[in-house]
Order: sequence, then structure tokens, then C-alpha cells
Amino acid sequence: MSKEILNFTRYSLKITQNMDIEALNKRFENASVTEVLTHFLSEYKGEIGLSSSLSYEDQVLTHLICQIDKTAKIFTLDTGRFFPETYTLIDKTNLRYGIKLQVYFPDYQNVQKMVNEHGINLFYDSIENRHLCCQIRKIEPLKRALHGLKVWITGLRRSQSVTRKDMQLVEYDADDNIIKLNPLINWSEEDVIRFVKANNVPYNKLHDKGFPSIGCQPCTRAVEPGEDIRSGRWWWENPEHRECGLHRR
Ligand code: ADX
Ligand code: SF4
Repeated sequence: MSKEILNFTRYSLKITQNMDIEALNKRFENASVTEVLTHFLSEYKGEIGLSSSLSYEDQVLTHLICQIDKTAKIFTLDTGRFFPETYTLIDKTNLRYGIKLQVYFPDYQNVQKMVNEHGINLFYDSIENRHLCCQIRKIEPLKRALHGLKVWITGLRRSQSVTRKDMQLVEYDADDNIIKLNPLINWSEEDVIRFVKANNVPYNKLHDKGFPSIGCQPCTRAVEPGEDIRSGRWWWENPEHRECGLHRR
């Protein structure tokens, strides 16, 4: 195929995808989260999965997904540096919903090489080191977890940070060639907490100790009441850099 035809084909494909995504966003503009999940879980049965960090948001989605289809894939990327409270919550969630969260680990040889070359707590030394650690402990396992899926459900919300304010309910993730579904995109932090409490959803006990957003232990600290909810994540970096790369745009 000539270069021109190849470029044209790519261009047309991109336009078609954008139009589909736009149509889906329009269609579900005023739909409830349950309506959105019901549609996608049935349309993409066996090819859809929720990535869960066991956050408040992901617990809300786990709760709702389990009411619709308990066989849907729910997975967590265990970086090996989680808080003990997060591990406790994995067991608690499995027990409560009668499911088995699928746990993905990083490649041990990559972790070993990184730690031996750069140190166990390399992420504090430079942004490059921090990105390297997130790449090895989160992003590479994510690729494996998403393999074979057509839709990736996340707990992202627009109001979480400056880096997320333009996100949509349905997006096309070109990096992973997958439809990304963010059912809680319009929810506020209060909406999420209200849902958790009202439905007795199991949650991370660190939330009661000043941790509104929880990631890996060495990269998360408690925040003061009223402080930005993600200010305890990679607190030594400036806000525009505070993404681990799972959600590149
Ligand atoms: S992060 O990029 O800063 O780490 P955040 O903690 O806000 O992300 O979580 C946003 C969404 O990313 C979660 O709702 C979840 O879908 C996904 N996610 C983040 N960390 C993980 C993880 N360790 N395992 C699985 N999914 C994750
Ligand atoms: Fe590594 Fe910190 Fe990223 Fe976790 S959040 S993968 S410990 S740099």
C-alpha cells in the first residue's frame, strides 16, 4: 500500500473512531452510572475490565458492576509498594462480593534491575526515576491486564485534578488502542463518599486518617482538611506532573 493510501486509511479510521466516541458521549449524556455500565457490560461481555486501585471510586464501581455481572473482569496492579490497608481491602472486597480481584504484578527482572541500579526509593531522586518506577511497576503490567479487552473502565473523575478536567465519559485511548470508560467522570468527591456510606461499601481505612487519594505507600501522604485531594500524591512534584502515566492523554 502506498504511503498516501496508508495515511488516508489511518486518518479515516481516526475520524470514524472519534465519531463513534462522540456519539456514545451524546447518547449517555444524561444516563445514570448503572445504565452506562449495564450497556457496556452486556455489549462487550468478556472484553471489558475495571482497573481498581481500591480507591473510593473503584469500590463504588466494583459494587455496581457486581450487581450487574459478577463475572466481569476487575483487576488491580499490585506495584509491591501498596499500604497494608490496601491489601486488607482486597480480601475484604472479595469476601463481600464473592469475587476474585485479578492481581497483576510487575516483571520481577525489571524490578530487580531497576532497584539494583537506582536504589529501592529511586522515585525521590528525580522525575525520570519516578516515571521509570511507575513504568515498570504499573504501566507494563497494565498493558498485560488490558490485553484482549476492548473497553477499560476506570474510576477517574474530572474534579480530581487539573490534569483530568477535560476528560470525557467515553474516550479512545490511542496508546492502548482501547475504549476508555470513566462512568464517575461527573461525580464529586461528596457524591462518591455518600454512595460508599449509604451502601456500606468496603473502603480503605486510610481514608479516615487523612488520605483522600491513595496510591503506593512511599508516594502518598496524608493531607490537611481542605487541602487539594491529590496533594498527598507525589507531593514533592508540581501538580502538572502528578500522573503516573496510566492516564496519558
Ligand atoms: S494515578 O494515576 O494517580 O495512580 P488514581 O490513583 O487517581 O491514578 O486512580 C485513577 C484510576 O486509575 C483508578 O480509578 C483506577 O481505575 C486506575 N488505577 C490507578 N492505580 C491503579 C492500580 N494500582 N491498579 C489498578 N488500577 C489503578
Ligand atoms: Fe513507584 Fe511511587 Fe510510581 Fe508506586 S507511585 S510505582 S512506588 S514511583
